[in-house]
Amino acid sequence: MGTRIRLDRLISSQMPDVSRADVKKMCLKCRISVNGKLARRSDAHVDTDDEILLDGERVCYKEHIYIMLNKPQGVVCSTKDGESRTVIDLVPPHMRRKGLFPAGRLDKDTEGFVLLTDDGELAHKMLSPKSHVPKTYFVRLAQPWEESYETAFEQGMTIDGGEKCLPAQFTGSKENDRECTLVLHEGKFHQVKRMFKILGNEVVFLKRIAIGKMVLRQDLALGSCLEIMHKDVEKLLTK
Ligand code: URA
Repeated sequence: MGTRIRLDRLISSQMPDVSRADVKKMCLKCRISVNGKLARRSDAHVDTDDEILLDGERVCYKEHIYIMLNKPQGVVCSTKDGESRTVIDLVPPHMRRKGLFPAGRLDKDTEGFVLLTDDGELAHKMLSPKSHVPKTYFVRLAQPWEESYETAFEQGMTIDGGEKCLPAQFTGSKENDRECTLVLHEGKFHQVKRMFKILGNEVVFLKRIAIGKMVLRQDLALGSCLEIMHKDVEKLLTK
């Protein structure tokens, strides 16, 4: 048993271009059925588990959607931008929803994992400074990294403007002295770049590779989206 909801609300919540008024017209044109019976009234209450068909195609109700996007460089993390492509422009039509937004921002020149959702509560939990959800970054530097970085990050750095950062975990690559990973537990503006600047180094490439315990799928092409199954959503908040 799901929950009771108006038919017009259910359908319009799942389809970004369909309004409640549209659902009313669809009912009048006999395009919608509920559990095998034609739906005459768009204001009727249905169960979210009912079998609802629009033009013979199932409309499955999901309260929220969670999308893993592998953001390419040059795309901005906002819902609208006059000039550049936004992360929302990369969402394929079947994953689109009203109220979809990026939960957290990456810089325009940063690649990697962006969570897109219409679940404000989860986004708040994920982004709240108090929740300390780890975000893991792959970093390529202009200069070789140094052994001293591990302690410098672990102690909590003060970046320009006097902002104090929480302890972060640095791991230098054994194969490449200009590559490393950094785990942050907060999200200050340009934080990774500013932290390496304090150490006299410079970030030349940045990619977010994990949020919480959810790792960016390596086979997800740049610019592509993948729907995160509801059973896996908790991983986004796991430390
Ligand atoms: N830190 C940065 O400097 N940039 C990002 O996009 C994310 C973290």
